[in-house]
Amino acid sequence: MSDIKYIIAGEDGENTRFPCLAMVRYAMAAAVSLLAVGVIVLVIHAVFRSEDVHLSVNNGYIGADRLWDRTPVLSPDEQLGNIGATNNIKASAVVVHSKAPADVSETQLKHESTIDDDVGSSSIEPLPKECFLGCNSGDGETTQYTLQKASTTNLCVILIASNPSGRTKIDCGDTTVSLIDMSSPYKPIGEPLKLENFTVPPQTTITMQKRLKITDTTYIWNNYAGELRFSVRLQVSSTVTSYPLGKTHIKQQKYTCQPVTVGLVDVEDIFATDRVDCRPS
Ligand SMILES: *[C@@H]1O[C@H](CO)[C@@H](O)[C@H](O)[C@H]1NC(C)=O
Repeated sequence: MSDIKYIIAGEDGENTRFPCLAMVRYAMAAAVSLLAVGVIVLVIHAVFRSEDVHLSVNNGYIGADRLWDRTPVLSPDEQLGNIGATNNIKASAVVVHSKAPADVSETQLKHESTIDDDVGSSSIEPLPKECFLGCNSGDGETTQYTLQKASTTNLCVILIASNPSGRTKIDCGDTTVSLIDMSSPYKPIGEPLKLENFTVPPQTTITMQKRLKITDTTYIWNNYAGELRFSVRLQVSSTVTSYPLGKTHIKQQKYTCQPVTVGLVDVEDIFATDRVDCRPS
């Protein structure tokens, strides 16, 4: 700033001797001033900027207590027939069983099928099986199961919310989480999950766990009968409020988290990944 004073006072002929130098000094002074103003604007902007919460999905995994039901077939050597020609069961749920008791077929709809270690040999190549559906148990016996649509299932959704900034707490209200199938037909899995309002204090990470109860498992049954897992995209929507310097900022935010695995709790160790970050969308 002493530069500026010198130039203003400099009517002693220096200007005439070095007019260009004076111009350069003015230009420099102007540039420095602009820079200072720019920095101040940036700082003010940063200080008052609203804060965004960082969301991620724990282990990239949503554990399901079941995706479908299975019951062991009591007499494995009874003859196999095929009543499945007209039903819409996936080709991965292979062998269809003819001797399902009538009352079971009533309650479990028309999808009666039996699975044995033949799973995977069908024309549609399913996900790896890891013997969950029953393998040769060593003595040559093969356990067979009848697959049924689950009457209900619970998905355990665990979200991690963090607020790395030290400037303000962040309130998240009216948060909903939707699970969308990442494969055709790309439909929602269950109803959107509503979270209670939550607050993330500065420089804090919180973990929230909420159960998504699905009472109509038709979609899972139609698309993933016999599968241990499938991939979904999470769409999170939330009213995010932050308070930089006591000023209240409210933002309607949407986040997308993918790919997230929905799978049986029993195989989480196999398919869990690192946490999957959610990106503002
Ligand atoms: C939850 O948050 C929303 C939006 O921020 C707000 O309108 C609502 O009153 C809050 N509900 C409760 C119970 O605090």
